[in-house]
Amino acid sequence: MTKLLVVATGNPGKLRELQAYLADSGWELTLKPETLDVEETGETFAANACLKASQIAQATGQWAIADDSGLQVDALNGAPGVYSARYGTSDSDRISRLLRELGNSENRQAQFVCAVAIARPDGKIALESEGICRGEILYAPRGASGFGYDPIFYVSEQQQTFAEMSRELKGSISHRGQALKTLVPQLTTLKP
Ligand code: IMP
Repeated sequence: MTKLLVVATGNPGKLRELQAYLADSGWELTLKPETLDVEETGETFAANACLKASQIAQATGQWAIADDSGLQVDALNGAPGVYSARYGTSDSDRISRLLRELGNSENRQAQFVCAVAIARPDGKIALESEGICRGEILYAPRGASGFGYDPIFYVSEQQQTFAEMSRELKGSISHRGQALKTLVPQLTTLKP
């Protein structure tokens, strides 16, 4: 029997990415209703992922999955963090602001974090997972793939920014990839 899992996002790109990870899990993914929106009022990625999964599950009466992610820069005390999406009005605006605030700081260490949560139809959280990918903030953008802060996030093991990597390589090392890799085996054992 196929089990239905509502994805707490309006972004078809995120749905496709999740579908690829959960292809053999026995769950069928569907986008949340467009009119249903959850405010991200939590102070941590995990709190926001749980909030979104729980509210979408309760509103639809189905199992729901949600993620929350962002960039934490060490020299900025973890900023922009949970405010990563709200740090500016466009990707280039957000990147410019980050580079301006970091200035010539020699400490360029940073990490992407992704928290994922799955809620039962009654809103109770059934599974949680978190993935982290460490890297460095460059002084200027490099690469044209990906989205968000990808062009300034450099991973020294690969000697590439996220925006220079293939989708497969980024997916295998990224914060989101790691969070989902941990979650998927547990998801297959869940009994609706
Ligand atoms: P949310 O998880 O959809 O709330 O978005 C978090 C924000 O963090 C995005 O709008 C991006 O600005 C940033 N972000 C999260 N993951 C990535 C990534 O893999 N690459 C670049 N930026 C990211």
